[in-house]
Amino acid sequence: MRLAQRMQAIRPSATLAVNAKAQELRAAGKPIVSLAVGEPDFPTPAHVVEAAHQALRDGFTRYTPVPGIAPLREAVAASFARHGVTTAGPEHVMVTNGGKQALFNLFLALLDPGDAVLVPAPYWVSYPDMIALAQGVPVVVPTEPERGFLVDLDALDAACTPRTRMLVLNSPSNPTGAHYTQEAMDQLAAWAHDRGIFVVSDEIYDQLVYPPAAPASLARWWERHPEGFAVVNGLAKSHAMTGWRVGYVLAHADLIKAMIKIQGQSTSNICSIAQKAALAALTGDDACVQSMRQAFQRRRDLAMDMVQTWPKVVCPKPQGAFYLFPRVDALYSPAVPDSAAMCAYLLEAASVALVPGAAFGDDRCIRISYAVDDATLTEALGAIGQALARLC
Ligand SMILES: Cc1ncc(COP(=O)(O)O)c(C=O)c1O
Repeated sequence: MRLAQRMQAIRPSATLAVNAKAQELRAAGKPIVSLAVGEPDFPTPAHVVEAAHQALRDGFTRYTPVPGIAPLREAVAASFARHGVTTAGPEHVMVTNGGKQALFNLFLALLDPGDAVLVPAPYWVSYPDMIALAQGVPVVVPTEPERGFLVDLDALDAACTPRTRMLVLNSPSNPTGAHYTQEAMDQLAAWAHDRGIFVVSDEIYDQLVYPPAAPASLARWWERHPEGFAVVNGLAKSHAMTGWRVGYVLAHADLIKAMIKIQGQSTSNICSIAQKAALAALTGDDACVQSMRQAFQRRRDLAMDMVQTWPKVVCPKPQGAFYLFPRVDALYSPAVPDSAAMCAYLLEAASVALVPGAAFGDDRCIRISYAVDDATLTEALGAIGQALARLC
């Protein structure tokens, strides 16, 4: 089969591959627990589900405008008020098939062939491949667990060249849970702005920040410099709506128009029913968001208490999202030489599925998702701790 050259630059999503492997082993009768998932384990809130039922009963089943129905675009624009934005209107936002399509639209609309994009590592798995598909060049900027996986300006300076067009920030981060304070985000934004570097801020976990850490955003930077910033968000993580595929982006009105062209020639509007559900999520009571956040914070604390007892493992305390990203390379050996081998070992020895850090650009680490119930989490982390101790 002859495929296009661009396929050589693209890898399949590692997280989806691990989930498939875990399901295969389960189907073969092995009691595998998966801590590899990147989605909340809660059901979608009832009022959101009811809005979808109502949309079906109303026969709301036809094409809609490509960037979303007007009330939804208005609600999306209004949602940025939680970060102090007062001037966003429907023309500054569009609704996409998950945050994923918002990112893909941005890369396609902004990158010329050979444009370099700074991607702090550990990074979310899809950034480098999406950038490559858009003919950009991902430039990975490493960070250290001992510094909480936060990128510093010297490292960005060192990676910057005249070809640098863009910086992708993700806070809170998948896979590390690292979260920049508003002050730190402002510093990064100022650094990029001074150099004419466009910033894509992926804030899909911004509602999952655990006190005393406070939410932070680059939405105000967009408001002051709309031609230099775009903010991506969505409902998958905040409202347990991964399957509904609702993302959105805040950007300059001209950039939104360009992305509407791309989406109009590729996928068109997202599902009409999901749009009605999204409207209910954005305009309804957000007590559900707060109670999920509290549950995740409790699990984060429970998980950290256990991981801290693991021998030779370093794990910064995440301030957001629902992942831990412990550094485990002090336990590597000829038999277990890297993160993929470590995850294979833990699948065998602890019956727990995890994602190798290599998939996120850091082979020293493994990713643990704590988006599972407390009992499952306690049991799985206990089994991992015992299996790691056997490697000492
Ligand atoms: C950092 C990050 N950005 C974007 C996405 C895409 O989310 P969605 O399901 O809305 O496409 C994810 C999903 O895992 C993510 O972790």
